[in-house]
Amino acid sequence: MRIELAKIIDFGVISDPRGDLTFIEGNRNIPFEIKRVYYIYNVPVLTNRGSHAHKNLEQIIIPIAGSFNVKLFDGHKTVDFPLTKPWKSLYIPNGLWREIYNFSEGSISLVLASDYYDESDYIRELSNFKRFTGDNL
Ligand code: TYD
Repeated sequence: MRIELAKIIDFGVISDPRGDLTFIEGNRNIPFEIKRVYYIYNVPVLTNRGSHAHKNLEQIIIPIAGSFNVKLFDGHKTVDFPLTKPWKSLYIPNGLWREIYNFSEGSISLVLASDYYDESDYIRELSNFKRFTGDNL
């Protein structure tokens, strides 16, 4: 099933006395070429984000600061991923509904995307997503 394609990617850490460094290279340690980067910050506590799916877009979400949870749903199965370390990200393939919640105060999520912003790639209604997965699973 689609949800099994979602996975935690551990980018590793290069540590020395000056601090820690983690790197990401498109098509090398992530499965797509990066076309867009955005970041979400100043999220009020108890706020949820996401609540949509993408038809074609693939994404990597990284808890650059703080922590949050990402719940993925493929129309049948739900899997919850707590993201708590800046070197551990979540790969989200296309075709999955996501809820992002439990943001810690001051958290920052960095998102790498396989394509440019395109509103027509979004499915924003859960009922439409269920119809979509019925057609596509
Ligand atoms: P949205 O994707 O709904 O946010 P969330 O990450 O919580 O699901 O995006 C919020 C608004 O920002 C929406 O009006 C679309 C706009 N937006 C862009 O213009 N460009 C982008 O790259 C992104 C991600 C969003």
